[in-house]
Amino acid sequence: MSDLKKLKEEFLSKLNNKLNLSEINQIKSDLFGKNGLVSSQFKKIGTIAESERKKFASNLNIIKDELQNLINLKINEIENAEINEKLQKEKVDITLPERPFLRGKIHPVSQTIDEISSIFSEIGFSVEEGPDVENEYNNFTALNTPDNHPARDMHDTFYLDEKKEKLLRTHTSPVQIRTMLKDKPPFKIIAPGRTYRSDSDQTHSPMFHQVEGLHIDKNINMGHLKGCLNYFIKEFFEVEKIRMRFRPSHFPFTEPSAEVDIGYEVQDGKIIIGEGDQWLEILGCGMVHPNVLKNVKVDPTKFQGYAFGIGIDRLAMLKYGINDLRSFFDCDYRWLNHFGFDPLDVPTNYRGLSR
Ligand code: PHE
Repeated sequence: MSDLKKLKEEFLSKLNNKLNLSEINQIKSDLFGKNGLVSSQFKKIGTIAESERKKFASNLNIIKDELQNLINLKINEIENAEINEKLQKEKVDITLPERPFLRGKIHPVSQTIDEISSIFSEIGFSVEEGPDVENEYNNFTALNTPDNHPARDMHDTFYLDEKKEKLLRTHTSPVQIRTMLKDKPPFKIIAPGRTYRSDSDQTHSPMFHQVEGLHIDKNINMGHLKGCLNYFIKEFFEVEKIRMRFRPSHFPFTEPSAEVDIGYEVQDGKIIIGEGDQWLEILGCGMVHPNVLKNVKVDPTKFQGYAFGIGIDRLAMLKYGINDLRSFFDCDYRWLNHFGFDPLDVPTNYRGLSR
């Protein structure tokens, strides 16, 4: 009996030490191995006096369970500690180091198109689009510019085939035709996009951008045109007052036709829009010619309206102080970084166009 107690005490103190797995396995086999101390105690049972035997056996079993539980607990503890240590050592850092993040910029022309669309959408215009490759009919004939009309020469057209049936559109006006052919009046649209003419210098590029405007309804007159353009220019340049003048002009698809100049002055080399005594031409416009309406099956005795075509690149140059049109299309990253816009800065009339 006292042998058992001693055994228990001895091993309890051993198990309280810091042990590694092989040490504890050693203890395990010292106790429960074939010739282990606990095993030999069991073998002793038969030799114990009968009166003592039951008690001895039951005590032995209790001590055996106690020690076994303790050993299992220890083994568990050690294994857990080993796994944790291993995990700690083998830890892979899957986070990426912070890298400089270069965000792209929005091209001033794209930004200007967004601004223009935002301004016109406020007064009920929707946005239409047409293809860059047009047919001769939409670009000229339907716009009351028949074959051999002198205006065709003025457009320096890029033709795409021998028969001159396909071309790169010379203006956004063919979108007027496309819009009116596919729907019924009234129409109130703008159509921004690329246009092409064989022309290139500081203020002309063979590819440039226009925005077309078309408003057809009952009783639309030149006063509406003036009011609309005046509103647009003021909103676009973010000025209270603007000096504008309508000069008589000629386009085959409008009658009467006008070109619009806006007043500006140069102060310290900077263009100030809206004041001053200098004039800058920015758009062509007029009342849509009855022949154009007839070509798209709109009755000109019932419906009439105005159209305009604005040079977008020129507006962008004026607003953002860019003085060579060609730099728009150089694809120079440094230039874009300087003149470009933050992609999240989407222009709206409500938030301000060019904060
Ligand atoms: N399409 C004309 C041009 O490119 C501009 C314009 C559009 C004029 C609509 C009048 C009406 O010069």
